[in-house]
This record gives sequence, C-alpha cells and structure tokens, in this order.
Amino acid sequence: MKKVIGFCGSPKNNSNTEHLLLKVLEGAQNKGAQTKWYDIKKLNIANCLGCAGCRRSGKCVIKDDMTELLKEITNSDAVVFASPIYMMQMNVYIKKFIERLWPLMKNDGNSMLKDGTKGLWLFTQGTEEPQAFKAYFDHNELMMGHFGFTPEKTFTVGNTRAKGDFEKQEKTVKQAIEIGTNLV
Ligand SMILES: Cc1cc2nc3c(=O)[nH]c(=O)nc-3n(C[C@H](O)[C@H](O)[C@H](O)COP(=O)(O)O)c2cc1C
Repeated sequence: MKKVIGFCGSPKNNSNTEHLLLKVLEGAQNKGAQTKWYDIKKLNIANCLGCAGCRRSGKCVIKDDMTELLKEITNSDAVVFASPIYMMQMNVYIKKFIERLWPLMKNDGNSMLKDGTKGLWLFTQGTEEPQAFKAYFDHNELMMGHFGFTPEKTFTVGNTRAKGDFEKQEKTVKQAIEIGTNLV
C-alpha cells in the first residue's frame, strides 16, 4: 500500500490550505493509499541552527518532532507540502520545516528518500491568478528535486482570502481530488 504524508503550514485552523491538502489526500485515499497529515503549527519544530551537524553525522543535533517526521518521510511514497502564500513566498511555518529537511541529503549528494518519492507543493493565495508567482513555484520544484524528490507540478489556488473560499470553488476542489488520485 502506498503511503502519502502531508504537511500544512497555515497558522489558522480549518484554513483554506488545510482543506486543500485534505482534498488532495482524499484523492490519494480513493486510489487505496494510506494517508496522514500534520499541522505544523501544533508540532515542536525548532529553527535550523545551521550547525551542519547533519552533514557530519547524517543526523540532526536537535531532538524534537523532526526526528520522527524525517523517518516517516523516508518511508513515504509521496510527500505533500501545503502553504499559504505570504509576501509572495511560502510562510514561515513551512519554511522552518523545509530547512530541517537538510538531513535528507547525504554527503555523497544522494538522498535518504526512497527512489521515486514524489514531492508535491500546494499553495493558496489571495491573488486570483494561480500562476502569478510561477517563477517561485518552479524554483521550489527545483529545490524538491535537489533533495531527491520527484517533483510533481505545483497546484495553486487563488482567491482564498477568507475561511471557506477554497471550498466555494467547486471545480478547483475536484481538481485537487484528481491531483491526489494521480499522486498514487
Ligand atoms: C502576512 C500575509 C501575507 C500575504 N501575502 C500574500 C501575497 O504576497 N500574495 C497573495 O496572493 N496573497 C497573500 N496573502 C493572502 C494569503 O495567501 C491567503 O489569504 C491564503 O490563502 C490564506 O490561507 P489560509 O486560509 O490557509 O490561512 C497574504 C496573507 C497574509 C496574512
């Protein structure tokens, strides 16, 4: 059975980003995948210290929730990163989590991930045009590839300023489910 794990970076409960992630995971479940997701704001994740301890020993020196999450990520077939766009970028919750993924990279340049582990970015944003920040989305796909993920095409939902705005976009909700199905 394929394992799909998701991470939500919104600081709000029942947020647009959370609901987008849940729809993608629903699609993956429809295809028989085992899914799990984490709400980053509820986790104990410290900022990267930049000590490069992971470069020397392969393990992060910080003992917090990332220890377990890194293991789960290396056991997954697909990882979904969901963030609201803040100041034209991912927000700080997801960024601190992403920086703590450095131990996934071995010193020989190979990745700790299973071959073919898919990486999918999901974004929500106030701006209506989903491709408004395309250069940034392409850059994040590149970053995923560098860490050993097989990058999937980023999915961005615009016009999500207030709670419930994503769910109102019926066509987009269906697309999100389809993306999850195709992830498996
Ligand atoms: C501090 C802050 C900065 C934001 N910056 C942008 C931005 O640069 N571009 C944009 O389109 N939306 C921006 N937004 C709007 C959010 O991306 C949008 O409301 C998002 O979908 C909220 O997701 P949530 O409901 O999951 O929290 C910003 C919102 C906040 C609070």
